[in-house]
Amino acid sequence: MLAAGILTISDKGARGERRDKSGEVIREILSSMGVHIANYEIVPDEKDLIAETLIEWADEGNLDVLFTTGGTGLTPRDVTPEATLSVVDRVVPGFAEAMRAESLKKTPMAMLSRAVVGTRGRCLIVNLPGSPRAVRECLDVILPALPHAVETLKGQTGDCGAAQN
Ligand code: MTE
Repeated sequence: MLAAGILTISDKGARGERRDKSGEVIREILSSMGVHIANYEIVPDEKDLIAETLIEWADEGNLDVLFTTGGTGLTPRDVTPEATLSVVDRVVPGFAEAMRAESLKKTPMAMLSRAVVGTRGRCLIVNLPGSPRAVRECLDVILPALPHAVETLKGQTGDCGAAQN
């Protein structure tokens, strides 16, 4: 069973002024796949706080994947990609490229998301945009590759053949 963390990044959400619908969507989708949600929190759009939380969760060693939602766009407070880049060891561009490419078929606004994906130790960190719709659309794109990404990250298999169909 995979273990995941959900970190919602939203000033209003952190102040309790907005329901965390996108976090709920991630939880619903992952739970329906049998993924265990081990960590969940809402933090404001503060780069240092986001980075500290990512480091703490990834370094605890119990999460296979850590999803963030929100703060990937262009408003002056959007700093999720910068916080993520400051903590990952390796960037995994294919995930973000695939999310943007598929999302562009649905809305030209997909170009506005600067989401990044990378690894810190054995944890995969995935930025998702902040709307429930965007979360659904992006998860649809990347979830088929997630189990094999986690396996390879843990060094459990070098055999990609079995995962490819
Ligand atoms: N991606 C998908 N698949 N579907 C969407 O509706 N919305 C876009 C984009 N990515 C969207 C999407 C919009 S409108 C914005 S502003 C950016 O994500 C950034 O969103 P964020 O700042 O909430 O992270």
